[in-house]
Amino acid sequence: MNENDLLLKEKLKKEGHEYNPDDSDPADNWPDNSEPAGLPLEKTMGPAAPKKDSKILFFAGSKGGCGCSFISNAVAAYYAKSKNKNVLLADLNCGKKDSRLLFNLSLKSNLRDIGDIEFDFKEIDFNVLKRLVVSLEDSLHIVLPPLKFEKAPLMTGKNLDILLDSFSGLFDLIIVDTPFYLLQDKNIDFLEYADMFILVTQADLISISNLEVIFSNLCLENMPARFEIVINKFNSRPVISPPRIISMLKAPVSIFIPYDRDIELLYLTRGPAPMFDYNLRITKAISDFAESLFEKLF
Ligand SMILES: Nc1ncnc2c1ncn2[C@@H]1O[C@H](COP(=O)(O)OP(=O)(O)OP(=O)(O)O)[C@@H](O)[C@H]1O
Ligand SMILES: [Mg+2]
Repeated sequence: MNENDLLLKEKLKKEGHEYNPDDSDPADNWPDNSEPAGLPLEKTMGPAAPKKDSKILFFAGSKGGCGCSFISNAVAAYYAKSKNKNVLLADLNCGKKDSRLLFNLSLKSNLRDIGDIEFDFKEIDFNVLKRLVVSLEDSLHIVLPPLKFEKAPLMTGKNLDILLDSFSGLFDLIIVDTPFYLLQDKNIDFLEYADMFILVTQADLISISNLEVIFSNLCLENMPARFEIVINKFNSRPVISPPRIISMLKAPVSIFIPYDRDIELLYLTRGPAPMFDYNLRITKAISDFAESLFEKLF
């Protein structure tokens, strides 16, 4: 059992649940007539629905564990807490349980995820969306990825197009935690959807080199207004100094975010929102970054 498992075990014990990392997810067993999970009820879909001018932000990481989910979840939680906006966090990391654990959703019995949509659909019915979206704290909502990796192809190309179109009618801000390989999908025009790409990287040679590849695959070189580069955990292993990173990258770095062990513990045990109750270097960096993005978007 690793450190995260221990923390979660502790957390679940406090709340009177047993933790078993091998548990199959209860989402597999949800009843057909389960309660819809909290999409803003006043909204409607279909041709009569008022199309919102949603802003869509794609977060992608340059290497596993660089903090893409950490930063995207923290930014989403910050907006839900501090702005009068309806926020959707779309976790597209098929086969990963991160969001279920982080937001303490694993034990909810009526959970559904993107893999539960009947494909091949022409458009997603509003009732399906209502069941897919889970309401969290403040004005934060989440849509979860399927745990079975064989469902990954369902979340690509035209299906992803339809999914994003459906959600963009319903939320002010959509924050997509995107596995980097999805951005290589030639069947979807990410540039059409993205108001902004946020590329998260650590300060090591491999991460920085990968970043360059993602960058050129997305053809972002000529679109400085459409992306931000975040260097995360820059203080944990100063292999490359910040000035050297800046000189290696062809694009400017938007923000350097430090690693903070206490915040990691808080994040893993209580989710991303509570970190903003503390006035720390890391929370200041994340909120400053979120504010600067917000100014560009609205
Ligand atoms: N700046 C930070 N301060 C403290 N902890 C951090 C920070 N950035 C990331 N973490 C922690 O590092 C771990 C890995 O981060 P995260 O899961 O966000 O990476 P990822 O890029 O999404 O990985 P994956 O490739 O699995 O999707 C998590 O436990 C997260 O809480
Ligand atoms: Mg992740």
